[in-house]
Amino acid sequence: MGFKQVTLEDVIPLRHIVLRPGKSVETCYFDGDDASTTRHFAWVEGDQVQSIATVMQSSKRIDGVKIPLQLRGMATNPEQAGQGIGSRFLQALHEELDDSWWCNAREVAVRFYERNGLTRIGESFDIPGIGPHYVMVYKKTAGSK
Ligand SMILES: CC(C)(COP(=O)(O)OP(=O)(O)OC[C@H]1O[C@@H](n2cnc3c(N)ncnc32)[C@H](O)[C@@H]1OP(=O)(O)O)[C@@H](O)C(=O)NCCC(=O)NCCS
Repeated sequence: MGFKQVTLEDVIPLRHIVLRPGKSVETCYFDGDDASTTRHFAWVEGDQVQSIATVMQSSKRIDGVKIPLQLRGMATNPEQAGQGIGSRFLQALHEELDDSWWCNAREVAVRFYERNGLTRIGESFDIPGIGPHYVMVYKKTAGSK
């Protein structure tokens, strides 16, 4: 039970239910999902995947600093949302990763990411079909987990 690295196929069901509801399963696959440097993670309880995210090498320059990793496809099982699983997942992820990472955060999730150590960068922008997003960043420092 807890945080672990999983396979791409392990994250597809929750991606589909939470992030692409009503769309075909093909829409749940991201460019880079099967790259050798891409890692898929889950919070597992019993044999149930309760929270997921994927970390890819995709660097972005933020405030003059190169942030090497991108987090994509963060989602919690809707029946378990709001109970702290996503936060426990992100705290474990901070410990797992040796580098800083960024993500395109849905507006509804900004407060969740801020509570978990991320900072919002710049103005909101629209991802067609999904809605308003902000770039957010988690800066790994010598003192951080
Ligand atoms: C955002 C999400 C991953 C958080 O996971 P979680 O296990 O519910 O996280 P926690 O219980 O630790 O924290 C809940 C926080 O998420 C926020 N949240 C965002 N969407 C939510 C949803 N659909 N249901 C419940 N909480 C949600 C809550 O407002 C809460 O923030 P607050 O405590 O500051 O009010 C999860 O709610 C989710 O999958 N949301 C829908 C998909 C999504 O927006 N993913 C992020 C893409 S960038």
